[in-house]
Order: sequence, then structure tokens, then C-alpha cells
Amino acid sequence: MSFPTVRHRRLRGSAALRSMVRETILTVNDFIYPIFVTYGTNVKEEIPSMPGVYHFSMDRLEEEIREVVSLGIPSILLFGVPASKDAIGSSAYDHNGIVQEATRAIKQWAPELVVIADTCLCQFTDHGHCGVVHVHEQTGNAEVDNDQSLELLVKTAVSQAEAGADIIAPSNMMDGFVSAIRDGLDAAGYTNVPIMSYSVKYASAFYGPFRDAAHSAPQFGDRKTYQMDPANAREALREAESDVLEGADFLMVKPALAYLDIVRTLKDQFDLPLVAYNVSAEYSMVKAAAANGWLDERAIVLETLTGMKRAGADLIMTYHAKDAARWLQG
Ligand code: PBG
Repeated sequence: MSFPTVRHRRLRGSAALRSMVRETILTVNDFIYPIFVTYGTNVKEEIPSMPGVYHFSMDRLEEEIREVVSLGIPSILLFGVPASKDAIGSSAYDHNGIVQEATRAIKQWAPELVVIADTCLCQFTDHGHCGVVHVHEQTGNAEVDNDQSLELLVKTAVSQAEAGADIIAPSNMMDGFVSAIRDGLDAAGYTNVPIMSYSVKYASAFYGPFRDAAHSAPQFGDRKTYQMDPANAREALREAESDVLEGADFLMVKPALAYLDIVRTLKDQFDLPLVAYNVSAEYSMVKAAAANGWLDERAIVLETLTGMKRAGADLIMTYHAKDAARWLQG
């Protein structure tokens, strides 16, 4: 049957009808809100390239946590900006590191809030790479050593679990990081702490504002030897499959907007909960355009987040989470 018997507009005739046939409903339960914690006292400093997102020192963090909880956001993703960096990122796995301290405090203030710890070294290394760097003797080329990096990432994950992190989210893109971290967590007794793997993480220009925020831009070279080529889709299946076999509890696609085809593919191929990371530049572009009056921020953000969910995301990491939670209430 076809037109004129079939008329698609029949189901669009009123708000009530449209809501009856709506396929995708965005809710606050879908959101994971990233938070940056830093050293010092009385710091609540806006990140210039990410209006509305701040660095918090420990003594200013509680107010932010209370706000997140009062908005009904179930989960946060913690990033640390440490006071000191070195070649092996030792502040990442320090018992008294910034992420560890923040995690302990947050679990006191808001035991129900799910704390996800980002497990990477790039904010903690002086060279800004996500692992240990070796300079090749003959060629002089710097390389990120996969297997040595794993040892440090395992130490980081275990110290985060020890501090009370509810979920470990490794974003480093070393090979074998899920099984190494799973083994490390299990050996330390954290068999029930899930791993939310940044399974499919592209070497993307969309992380620019985050690197300003986290002071984590690589000091030389780039991340293309460990993060994925944006041109590749079949490789995403291989990455995700490895993580499934290694024991990941969640899969992730990052960035989100330019990679919604990958979100859909993973959703169709695997049955683990799937996360989309609506990354920093996706946020900053909307904020910049909205500040110029070029678009309707609320409508754009809700449409974007709904699109990510429609593409297959079960959860969305987003800097828009607090605003979106308010808009969904109102
Ligand atoms: C750390 C990490 C990055 C992001 C999350 N974890 C940066 C990177 O890989 O350079 C980016 C997040 C964003 O842009 O919002 N490896």
C-alpha cells in the first residue's frame, strides 16, 4: 500500500500522538557527567574553551557533587589534574593522588553516586602520552611501550578501586588493557568492580578543549600509534571484540557525533551496555555557536543527545549533562 492510503503525517498530528509513537526517550539516567579535580585551595576555575565546565579543588568539589546529585544524575566520570608530573605518571597511582582523594571524599558525601575513574596516564606524565615512552636508540624515535605501560595502568586502576571507585574506565588504548586490568583488579580482591572500556577511541581533533582542560596534550608527536584512525570502521569491530573477550563490562565509542555509525554497528554486534562519549569539542562548538546567538542551545543539545541514544548508546558521557537534566525536568 502507498499514498494516498498511506499518510505518515497521520501520526504527527498532535503533541499527544507524537509522544505516543516516540521511539527514543532521553532521561537523566542516561547521563554520565565528567568532572575535573585539581590541586590547590578554593579553586573553581572555568575552562576557557569549555564555558560552564570548571576545575575544582577538593574544598570546592562538594558543592558541585551536591548539585549533580540534586539534578538526579546517577554517575560522574572523574579526571585528575595533578600538581606534579613525571616520565612514568606516578601521581596517577599514588595512594594520595588527586583522583584517589576525590573518590574517597565523594563516596563520603554521596555514597549512591556512581564514581567512574578514568584510567590513563596522559594527565600525569610530563610528556603527555598515555603510557611509558622509550626513545629508540638507533632511530631516535619515541615510542609508547605497550606492555610496560600496562603495568602502570594496572597499578592506577587498582589504586582507584582501593579508593572506592565504582567503575574503572581505561582510556589509554594500549593493547590488552582490559585483561591486564581485570587480572589486576581480581588479584587485589576487586572482582566486582566493572570495567567500562574506551573500546573504540579514535585519534580525534575533537579532544582539543579537553587537552587544554586536563593539561594533557602530548609534548611531542601525536596519539596515532595507539588511538584509532578515524577512517576505519571494521577495525572498530576488532577492537570491541578483543575487549569483550578480555572481560569488559561496558563498551564505548569516542567521540560520538562523527562516529554514530560505529555506535550503531557495535550495538548490533555486541550485547554489552554501550556508552557514547560526547567529547569536549562537540560541547565547545555548541557553546560557541550558542554564545553568538546562532542556534537554540537547548534544542540542539537535546536533539544531539537523543540522536546518540537513537544510534544505540545506552549511556552518554556529556558535559551538557547538568543543563540537559534541568531541561528534561522543566
Ligand atoms: C585521556 C582522555 C582524553 C579524553 C578522555 N580521556 C584525551 C585524549 O585521549 O587525548 C578526551 C575527552 C574529551 O575530549 O572530552 N586519554
